[in-house]
Amino acid sequence: MKKKLRVGVIGLGMMGMTHLDIYARMDGVEVVAISDAIQARLDGSSQAQGNISGQAKGSVEKVNAKQYLNGIDLIKDKNVDLVDVCVGTNLHFNFVQEALSKGKHVLVEKPLARTYSEAQQIVSLAKNSSKNIMSAMCLRYWPAWVWLKKVIDDKRYGRCLSLSCKRQTNHPGGLFYSSEEECGGALLDLHIHDTDFINCCFGVPDAVFSQGYKGPSGGIDHVATNYIYSGNKINPLVIAEGTWTMQEGYGFNMSYTANFEKATACYLLDQDETLKVFQSGHEPELVKLSEGMGYEYEIQAFVDEIMTDKSTDIDLLNQAAESIAIIEAEKASIESCSVVAIKT
Ligand SMILES: NC(=O)c1ccc[n+]([C@@H]2O[C@H](COP(=O)([O-])OP(=O)(O)OC[C@H]3O[C@@H](n4cnc5c(N)ncnc54)[C@H](O)[C@@H]3O)[C@@H](O)[C@H]2O)c1
Repeated sequence: MKKKLRVGVIGLGMMGMTHLDIYARMDGVEVVAISDAIQARLDGSSQAQGNISGQAKGSVEKVNAKQYLNGIDLIKDKNVDLVDVCVGTNLHFNFVQEALSKGKHVLVEKPLARTYSEAQQIVSLAKNSSKNIMSAMCLRYWPAWVWLKKVIDDKRYGRCLSLSCKRQTNHPGGLFYSSEEECGGALLDLHIHDTDFINCCFGVPDAVFSQGYKGPSGGIDHVATNYIYSGNKINPLVIAEGTWTMQEGYGFNMSYTANFEKATACYLLDQDETLKVFQSGHEPELVKLSEGMGYEYEIQAFVDEIMTDKSTDIDLLNQAAESIAIIEAEKASIESCSVVAIKT
């Protein structure tokens, strides 16, 4: 029988608890260590909350795992094969660097790092490591977005003429999300999901034009961006808006509208989830999506990669780094109120 992959989860906030829940439902994986700097999160007397239904459902009581108050000590644990980094973004670089240096596989929550410079260093470390590393850009695995990427690529509805993405919520609260230095504001923390998806579909844009304003993090917490593609004769019109400045109680929604030569696809996750395709002369089609959220597909894909001895997909990792460069250009565009070219 194949040995189980032994996982250590660092950071038992909203994402750490979401990951714990997923590992508990997976075969071939065992959580052997957990870490949080807050004792109450480590012993389960305080539980983080999610902002979409299905998040943060894990339980520390259900795992028979060694507990560490500092993630760095968990990384030194010889029983851990895979370190899952779910601490705040400002800490990603240090933890990833440390985990790779100790010969661990690493799953790191999005964004890959707090800055493009740190993300580039992680890509370099990954190139020189025999261990696997993945940036948890969950939207790449979210059923409605997997569907969209597929139909853009296979051109079943013709060329994609335009894509408009939106992501809106109220502020999640908590110290991490109230510090631009740590989380990068909604611009880096929330809006990067759409920026990264756009990067995956169409590549790094030539330039961006963004507008936005500051909010509770002290950084840009509401942004709207035009991603400018000018290299081809015909270029897609691509825009995205992200915010966590809505009033308390607003909840969370994400959506896209993609217009193709022969169809219009509209997705909305709010209270319910719907994906509809409109084609002239036909009844609107309701697309049936796979069950579940992107997190479980993403973690399963990474575990499969490790268990089948595949090496890290450096291009995918590099794309996650490039997405941070695009975000930094969006910030520069807001600050200068001008079009900013992307340098990667
Ligand atoms: N993929 C997604 O959709 C998604 C959603 C939300 C957050 N995230 C990302 O996940 C990461 C964590 O977000 P969160 O909402 O779970 O944050 P959080 O603040 O709820 O949780 C982070 C936890 O890390 C702990 N921690 C801090 N320093 C530590 C240390 N040295 N050792 C051990 N534990 C330590 C904190 O005590 C805290 O409990 C961020 O990078 C965020 O951007 C991703």
